[in-house]
Amino acid sequence: MIVNKTIAATMDQLNLHRQKGLSIGLVPTMGALHEGHLSLIRRARAENDIVVCSIFVNPIQFNNKEDLAKYPRTLEADTALLESENCDIIFAPEVNEIYPNNNEPITVYDLEGLDKPMEGQFRPGHFQGVCVIVHKLFNIVNPDRAYFGNKDFQQLAIIRNMVKKQKLNLEIVGCDIIREKDGLAMSSRNMRLTESERLIAPKIYQTLLQAKNKIADYKNTLFTPALLKQWISDEISSNEPLKPEYVEIVDTISLQPTEDWNGGKTLIVCVAVFDGSVRLIDNLILFS
Ligand code: PAJ
Repeated sequence: MIVNKTIAATMDQLNLHRQKGLSIGLVPTMGALHEGHLSLIRRARAENDIVVCSIFVNPIQFNNKEDLAKYPRTLEADTALLESENCDIIFAPEVNEIYPNNNEPITVYDLEGLDKPMEGQFRPGHFQGVCVIVHKLFNIVNPDRAYFGNKDFQQLAIIRNMVKKQKLNLEIVGCDIIREKDGLAMSSRNMRLTESERLIAPKIYQTLLQAKNKIADYKNTLFTPALLKQWISDEISSNEPLKPEYVEIVDTISLQPTEDWNGGKTLIVCVAVFDGSVRLIDNLILFS
């Protein structure tokens, strides 16, 4: 496995592989790797000749300086994990390598409103920052396939849209959410939870599962989406110190909030919840 800090070295190595007709899979990450990330690496490993994992804490997607400063940086441990997963190349650049000139005009993407609901409401500019770095990584690595988790469902929808609009020639592969045994979605932020916050955190996913159950028979339920959102919010809030920031039920493709059960098709419930000072997100497909 090779660890690259520079764009040039990465592009040179990948050009050689491409000339030999080898396929390339990219897994973009911000490091602090856990089983969720490793599931993407394993899928990429199974489907490509060469696997590249990028590790870059992208400053322009953080709208909160403290969050950026506190983001865990564990390159040594990440390298060991990726080695054991037979990753071929780690691309771990410094900020200057990616953003060398602070005056460089940053592309503004038309996200067609996909960035407006949910995360977009509370993290202004976040998805623009994600698109900038992901597009740069695609240009550097030029992968056949890139792997993203459904954990960040809105991010995945926005990246799919960006790839389509920019007519980029690669396949975006969406991967299932990996959870702890008690249901908590794996996240680099989980390590910031105190013991008691960690104990209560699984209530988020448990509540989503209960909500899904309540509308399994959606034609005969008294719950409207609005009532179910309220129920979820109340239920989560009843577990101190959990505090929902938003609870949304949206169409899985347009990400627009729904007022009815959409004939039992393409709906997902997404939440962001503060567990103490740690902001956790989760989601569950209600109807696929
Ligand atoms: P990061 O939070 O490091 O996540 C990297 C990838 O791992 C994302 O596609 C994310 O959805 C996926 N992932 C995280 N937790 C997961 C879990 N429990 N199960 C399955 N997949 C999971 O997302 C980012 O980094 C950044 O925004 C990035 C795309 C790298 C751009 O900077």
